Amino acid sequence: MPGLESYLDSLEERLARTVASHPGLVAAVGNEALAAGGKRLRPVLVFLASPADREPSLAAGVAVELVHMATLVHDDLIDRAHFRRGKAAAWSVYGAEAARATGDYLFARAFAELSATGDSRAVAILAHATLCLARGEALQRTQTHDPATTVDAYLERCALKTGKLFEAACRLGGGSGEYGLALGVAFQIADDVLDCSGATIETGKIAGTDLRDGTPTLPLLLAAQRDGVVRRALAGDPLALSNGGTLLRVAATGALERAREVALDYARRARACLNGELYRSELEELTHAVVNRER
Ligand code: IPE
Ligand code: IPE
Ligand code: MG
Ligand code: MG
Repeated sequence: MPGLESYLDSLEERLARTVASHPGLVAAVGNEALAAGGKRLRPVLVFLASPADREPSLAAGVAVELVHMATLVHDDLIDRAHFRRGKAAAWSVYGAEAARATGDYLFARAFAELSATGDSRAVAILAHATLCLARGEALQRTQTHDPATTVDAYLERCALKTGKLFEAACRLGGGSGEYGLALGVAFQIADDVLDCSGATIETGKIAGTDLRDGTPTLPLLLAAQRDGVVRRALAGDPLALSNGGTLLRVAATGALERAREVALDYARRARACLNGELYRSELEELTHAVVNRER
């Protein structure tokens, strides 16, 4: 795509520079998280949502990716997830305090980059999304080990912890946020399916983390409705959890396909929001890619 490659090259350069700006342990840990890669999907959204009469904002792409990275460093600590982007998670190498401080540093760098543009509307958009992220993680905490979590409550959590940052990326680019919000929910549902069935070599993460943590994701909730062992495992029963075949039981209920249908529905909703954007066909393509991905 014209322009995207050079945008992403500049993005990498600027991400590395801003993470390195205050040398020390957190900069080093942050740099490892950065160097581990990732899809850079949120900056791609900033680029694709930009209108014809405006250069895609590099500061916005950098800021939104930094907020995303900060949440991943914190999220792995919360979820006790040992693997991220194919590497050991920050907390598992450097400990909880270093991971917490690194996440805080990345948030701070994100807002430093964006506020340097003088665009207070952009800062407000990202601040709102960041608060929503924290609210989504807090909501998840209240839903932990509760197999009676409703699908609506689950979807609200997805909108908060994932959809809102996608929405912000699109708005920072200059587009409307509705597409991003729906795309983000589809993306999170697909992530939750991958946590049941994905291969580490593709996802860079270890499957089964949600079940082990008692995080009621859509595939786990749907499976729990049909299978008592899954329900007990989700509720935290150690006996049901120690049964190594629980993820196979989840798959056997058909819950992965049913969850995928809901993700496809959100992808359709995202498509329905498109209306004459400069990169319309690429944005449309993304709605398929987020659901059909393996990583
Ligand atoms: C992971 O996001 C967190 C979720 C919202 C599910 P990504 O899958 O975009 O992570 P990276 O940036 O590619 O590693
Ligand atoms: C998404 O939730 C994380 C955030 C949006 C912060 P998950 O816990 O499912 O993400 P992964 O699977 O660890 O990437
Ligand atoms: Mg996680
Ligand atoms: Mg996950």
